[in-house]
Amino acid sequence: MPFSNSERNLEALKSLPHAKASVRSACLIDQTLITFQQAIFRQKPVRSRNIEAENSSTQVFGRSDNMKVLDLFCGLGGLSQGFNKAGFEVTGVDVSESAGRTFQLNNKSQFIKADLSDVLIENGSYDIVIGGPPCKPWSAINTKRTRRGKRHRDFLLLSRFFEHVVHNSPQVFVLENVPLLANDKTLKSYVERLRSQGFSIESDIVKYSDYGAPTSRHRFILFGTKKGDAKVFFKKLNEHRRSPQTVRDAIWELKDKERGEVPDHVWPDLKTIRKYRSYYETGKFGWYVLKWDEPAPSFGNIMKTYILHPDAFNGEPARVISVREALLIMGFDSRFRFPPEFGLGLRYQMVVDAVSPIFSYVAARVVRDFAS
Ligand SMILES: C[S@@+](CC[C@H](N)C(=O)[O-])C[C@H]1O[C@@H](n2cnc3c(N)ncnc32)[C@H](O)[C@@H]1O
Repeated sequence: MPFSNSERNLEALKSLPHAKASVRSACLIDQTLITFQQAIFRQKPVRSRNIEAENSSTQVFGRSDNMKVLDLFCGLGGLSQGFNKAGFEVTGVDVSESAGRTFQLNNKSQFIKADLSDVLIENGSYDIVIGGPPCKPWSAINTKRTRRGKRHRDFLLLSRFFEHVVHNSPQVFVLENVPLLANDKTLKSYVERLRSQGFSIESDIVKYSDYGAPTSRHRFILFGTKKGDAKVFFKKLNEHRRSPQTVRDAIWELKDKERGEVPDHVWPDLKTIRKYRSYYETGKFGWYVLKWDEPAPSFGNIMKTYILHPDAFNGEPARVISVREALLIMGFDSRFRFPPEFGLGLRYQMVVDAVSPIFSYVAARVVRDFAS
């Protein structure tokens, strides 16, 4: 893998003293109860978990008998990463050159660049089909009624996912998307069609933090299998629940790092943050100051919704979280890299589009039980 030089710094990073700050005090300002973290020195709680090892993308547990996985709309590979780590042989497909380059830099998997709106990847050898088609037609953030559901140009891509299931006839398929997809008519008609072809299919809404990730993002998961009862997938998924990591677990070690000192620890200068301080006090979607001792809420592209570092408005200059912090909060490990020339907006977007690899690894292990 092409990383490691500066990430060997991680060991050095870990050895830094953690005498830092934070006690909560509540202040009433304009009738609004705001919780501030105020600076007093205290020892950072000793981690009971080895986060780096838990989130590592390279620890592979026994090959799953070389079972082949097709990851449609693979993006930078959040979903692929979990399946790769669980021992599957993954091929990712995406129309985006940028996604492909990032995917190949970070995943030990094949990549096919293709526009899935008119290309069908089918060679009869995929045991498992997984994927997260673009979610904009159903996303709660997409408030333009004229561009929702069927009216959105990406709507067709949902059907393309199912056409790949129909044509590849895998043992198992897993679809990931935003919760609002659950009620879609096209989805329901494909589910009926695939059931009539012998698939057992179930769905549920999962929360990544229930599986240990430091983000409470919710996602819709549709699971289909030709072997056994799909309900068992969600039952077994539940058995893998564990306590969430917090924002502190994920990003504390970057707290005193300068911009650029660690790869991707970069963020835009947004001079207007102070002007919007009152918005952050509302707690409305997108206006978050992260809290050290909770998982992060779900957030979108940081260039559009300014998600602030937990120390913002607490004596430190208010700043948005860095790309590295966003990666760590999504559950990627510190070896994750982007091609150097990629801009900030693109990096942030690809991170927030991704499935948490912490969740995908759990899902992949449960899939392994079904498929092997
Ligand atoms: C939500 S992201 C997928 C994220 C991915 N599952 C992960 O975990 O990192 C959707 C992806 O669909 C890709 N995409 C959009 N239109 C496409 C098309 N017509 N053909 C193939 N890929 C497409 C985008 O480039 C984007 O990477």
